[in-house]
Amino acid sequence: MVQLRDVNMQFEGKKVLEGVLLNVQPQERLVIMGQSGSGKSTILRLILGILRPDSGSVFFKQYEINRLKRRKLQQVRQQIGMVYQYSALLSSLTVRQNVALPLEELTDKSGSEIDKIVDEKLELVGMLDTKDLLPDELSGGMRKRVALARGLVLDPELVLLDEPSAGLDPVIATVVDELIINLTQKSKATSIIVTHEMESAFRIATRMAMLYEGKIIEEGEPEKFKQSKNPVVAQFLSGSTEGPILEGSLDAIRKK
Ligand SMILES: Nc1ncnc2c1ncn2[C@@H]1O[C@H](COP(=O)(O)OP(=O)(O)O)[C@@H](O)[C@H]1O
Ligand SMILES: [Mg+2]
Repeated sequence: MVQLRDVNMQFEGKKVLEGVLLNVQPQERLVIMGQSGSGKSTILRLILGILRPDSGSVFFKQYEINRLKRRKLQQVRQQIGMVYQYSALLSSLTVRQNVALPLEELTDKSGSEIDKIVDEKLELVGMLDTKDLLPDELSGGMRKRVALARGLVLDPELVLLDEPSAGLDPVIATVVDELIINLTQKSKATSIIVTHEMESAFRIATRMAMLYEGKIIEEGEPEKFKQSKNPVVAQFLSGSTEGPILEGSLDAIRKK
């Protein structure tokens, strides 16, 4: 469904991805873990074609995303749903206008067709009652559910979710995680979920990959991950200060 082949990406001379290899199979829920700033969102932007890699290729099905012309990319993007970090709803638009956006931007459906689809998706996430409210009138968990409805409004084959439970309280985070599992299963969508939250990662993932220093250093099923001998993975999962992550810099922090 998705393949990254030897992808390199740097920003202003700083290498963020260095030879990333990644394969995503149909209908799996792949969780990409990594520290803040490790390049997780960058991977999602490369798959969406918002960014182009310095070298290497990004495939979505038969399409080499990084080589598509604007028009074709726009067409291919109809098959990819994106749920942005912090929901990223437009504050001047109502819930229903926010959810309708991808339909208006990427399809030529009529107003009444759009209304019908938007209602369906809001119903799925239990937010139909709020369709005339503005994002500011909603709680964080409700905004996230609206963002999910928007991400699914095109019935995408692939859904990309950037830190879907970040900033939510633990109970609401669980609700959102379960909603992600149910909705992607129901629609037989493939999903790639980026997170640095372990509990959420283990709830959602059918497979996991860990990004560290520009590379995927471990990948596999959650059970395999838990038993990883890789010291970086082990430290990340335990949240310990002992290990290769931050080695050196922690001493400096503690001395302050
Ligand atoms: N458009 C950009 N311009 C310059 N630097 C960027 C840009 N996007 C990301 N970066 C840098 O690349 C690194 C990885 O960013 P990102 O993919 O957002 O990390 P993550 O999502 O894992 O927290 C960070 O150091 C970030 O500052
Ligand atoms: Mg990010």
